[in-house]
Amino acid sequence: MYPLRRNRRLRQNEAVRSLVRETIITPDDFMVPLFVVEGKGVKEEIASMPGYYRYSLDLLAVEVKELWNLGLKAVLLFVKVPDDLKDNRGTEASNPKGLMQRAIQAVKNAVPEMLVMTDVALDPYSVYGHDGIVEKGQIINDPTVEALCGMALSHAEAGADFVAPSDMMDGRIEAIRETLEDNNFQNVGIMSYSAKYASAFYGPFRDALDSAPVDQNDIPKDKKTYQMDYHNRLEALRETRMDIEEGADIVMVKPGLCYLDIVREVKNMSEVPVAVYQVSGEYAMLKAAAANGWLDHDAVMLEQVVSIKRAGADIIASYFAKEVAKIINR
Ligand code: PBG
Repeated sequence: MYPLRRNRRLRQNEAVRSLVRETIITPDDFMVPLFVVEGKGVKEEIASMPGYYRYSLDLLAVEVKELWNLGLKAVLLFVKVPDDLKDNRGTEASNPKGLMQRAIQAVKNAVPEMLVMTDVALDPYSVYGHDGIVEKGQIINDPTVEALCGMALSHAEAGADFVAPSDMMDGRIEAIRETLEDNNFQNVGIMSYSAKYASAFYGPFRDALDSAPVDQNDIPKDKKTYQMDYHNRLEALRETRMDIEEGADIVMVKPGLCYLDIVREVKNMSEVPVAVYQVSGEYAMLKAAAANGWLDHDAVMLEQVVSIKRAGADIIASYFAKEVAKIINR
């Protein structure tokens, strides 16, 4: 008898397709990256990220209320730091009255239940646009880790729920965990960017924060001595395992779409939740293609975020979060 199994039976109509559907996205899956600037009444569009904005604190409050009402319950904060506050050591990063610290409070004042995660890395504060301190043409690890501990602590003091080290220095998870414990922040979590690749997909983000590595003699022009080589996969597993051992509550793979093989492997080996960051360049590509009429924006967007979840993401950080939530809430 030919054929016993007809797979198309389960695809006949939307009712049966939805009955057997394996991966379903909800607003609960998402974390919303937000860019913050000084000023009042500022909502400026980022040129390479159409439809995405930098907000001053007053409008940040408005935005997070809107996100909360859409069912989006976690934000990941980034700040654009004025040039005159930048130095090599990222001193401003630990300023208790700094923009990040005020942004954390602004979000908590607007929506107290909103989960606030903060980026921990020196790049927005660095005159050289590096995630760490530069000395003789090198990004020096251990002094950077010390600076990151101060930065993470000041975020905890300002009210952050999770700190998210995105710098890829060695040993920073353990050092930050110990700093938080020593200062009675047992409940402040760490979401580690564990498998973060040196990626050209971060371009628009660096436009958003004006944080690209400077083009200057003796200063490395890329981040390849700390972010991972994209030819490698075992390295991602090693970084993830070590970050879990050091105390990471959540691990992350970044970028998203080109790295779904890594996401699956990390998910399979990891007993802590796995986050995936669909980064700025991924957002920009779809916006550009859609603006040209070459791709169906919403259809491709949904296909992409579902693919990320199917690959193993428990949490998706995405610039599309709000647009996705609006569609799935309909
Ligand atoms: C900072 C940081 C970056 C991103 C998140 N945190 C940029 C970088 O490492 O150069 C990129 C996010 C994106 O492209 O959307 N260390």
